[in-house]
Amino acid sequence: MAVDTWSETEDFLSGVLCAPDPDLARALDVSEQADLPIINVSALQGKQISLLARMVGARRILEVGSLGGYSALWLAKTLPPGGRMVTIENNPVHAVVAADNLKAAGLDDRVEVRVGNAAEQLAQLAEEKAEPFDFFFIDADQHNNVTYFESCLRLGRSGSVIVIDNVVRAGEVRDLETSNGAVRATQRVLQLVGGSDRVDGVVFQTVGRRGHDGMLVIRMS
Ligand code: DHB
Ligand code: MG
Repeated sequence: MAVDTWSETEDFLSGVLCAPDPDLARALDVSEQADLPIINVSALQGKQISLLARMVGARRILEVGSLGGYSALWLAKTLPPGGRMVTIENNPVHAVVAADNLKAAGLDDRVEVRVGNAAEQLAQLAEEKAEPFDFFFIDADQHNNVTYFESCLRLGRSGSVIVIDNVVRAGEVRDLETSNGAVRATQRVLQLVGGSDRVDGVVFQTVGRRGHDGMLVIRMS
C-alpha cells in the first residue's frame, strides 16, 4: 500500500483519539518557526508513550533527547500531582525551545530541561543518587543507544519501563551487515534485551506519515 494510506490512517486515528491541545500545537509551531528538524514523535506516538507512562503510574520520568519539547509535553501532562520529569538535550538551541514550550504550558514547575551531552548528564544523575525513575523515553542520537540504555538501567528500579524510539527504521534493523552505526546500536540493544534476565522487552511497530518504524518497550525485572 502507498505511504499515503498510512499517512491518512495516522491522521484519521489522531483525529479520533488525540484531542486538540493548544500546548502541543504551539510546541510544533514554535519548533517549526525555530527551524528545528521535524523528527518529533507523532501525536499518536506521543499518546502511546504518555498512556504507557500513566499505565505504570509513573511519578518520575526521564527523557533522553528533548528536541523542541513535544514528547516532553505529552509525558509531563500525564504526571500525577507531585510528579517530576527530567529531559536531557544536547543542542542548546533545541533546549531553549523545549524549555519555552514547557513554560508556556505551565509545566516548567515539574520538568527540568538539562542541557548537555546525554551520557554525561545520565552519569551525573547517577552520581547525584537521583531517586529512581519509573519511566524512560530514549529518543536521541541512536549511535549512543547502548550507553543510554545501560545508564537508564542504573537509574531505574524493578518495574521501571524504558521506551526506545526508532528501532525499526523502515526495516533497516534486520540488516545484520549494515554499516549504519545507529542501526548497529539498535541491534545491540535488542540483543542485550533479548538475552537478559534483568529485563524483558518487545517492539511495537509503528506506521504513519514517516513510514515504518517502531518503539522498543522494556520492563526492568
Ligand atoms: C528521525 C525520526 C525520529 O523519530 C528520530 O528520533 C530521529 C530521526 C527521522 O525520521 O529521520
Ligand atoms: Mg524519534
